[in-house]
Amino acid sequence: MRISIKDLQKMKKKGLKIPMLTAYDYTSAQILEKVQIPIILVGDSLGQVVLGYESTIPVTLDEMIYHAKPVVRATKKTHIVVDLPFLSYQTNMTDAIKNAGKVLKETGAQSVKLEGGKQIALTIKHLVNMGIPVMGHLGLTPQSVYQQGGYSIQGKTAKNAQKIIDDASYLEDSGVYAIVLESIPTQIAKIITDKLSIPTIGIGSGVYCDGQVQVFHDLIGLFDDFKPKHAKRYLELSKLIQESTLNYISEVNTGKFPSEKESFFITEDELKQIKY
Ligand code: KIV
Repeated sequence: MRISIKDLQKMKKKGLKIPMLTAYDYTSAQILEKVQIPIILVGDSLGQVVLGYESTIPVTLDEMIYHAKPVVRATKKTHIVVDLPFLSYQTNMTDAIKNAGKVLKETGAQSVKLEGGKQIALTIKHLVNMGIPVMGHLGLTPQSVYQQGGYSIQGKTAKNAQKIIDDASYLEDSGVYAIVLESIPTQIAKIITDKLSIPTIGIGSGVYCDGQVQVFHDLIGLFDDFKPKHAKRYLELSKLIQESTLNYISEVNTGKFPSEKESFFITEDELKQIKY
């Protein structure tokens, strides 16, 4: 049985932190399940770190489904939440229900994540009433990058911070089971975390959130285009891959690879019978 939204909510009640990471493919999801991460996000950040788009705006529902399927196949216990991409839920209620339902039906994931506050609270209420578990996302919301004027910290003025705090309450009232708080000041994330009974999952929002989420590629140093300030690299995988690949190129060039160990042979007897 997979970890449910109730299990995640119990973790907050027990004071247990919720570590969450993104994954977009079978291999990385398999690794994350092995270390018993409770929840994986198939984030639309795949637009940047896997597909090479400039932002998450171009990501389609089909691309999200394509990447979520192998993540679900690779896992048995981990809760899988999938981002609904830009314009798959903002247009109208019917689109939101159809697209969120399609994600759950076609991928086998357990919940969806939507960005925004009061303006999508009603949509979330309908999704939850239809039996679709929803995670919210406030603060820096990458699907609104043009509206927010870049990837900057949100909630640095009292007015802006108040709006995020109020939005968090609207989302809780609408039935979300947890909320991602992205790039907001630590003190504001603490106020929200203390106020809500559902878990907050922070990214660039300080230590007081109930959980933390990071992009897998940032954690292992696999993505070089940019390094967000909130990301801590636990590994420099891109450098290690470059070193290994240079070794490979050199060994191919010098004939050191493949050696006998990596080669296959026919017996001398069989070889003798061949006419050439
Ligand atoms: O798409 C994503 O990876 C996200 C996280 C940054 C929270 O939404």
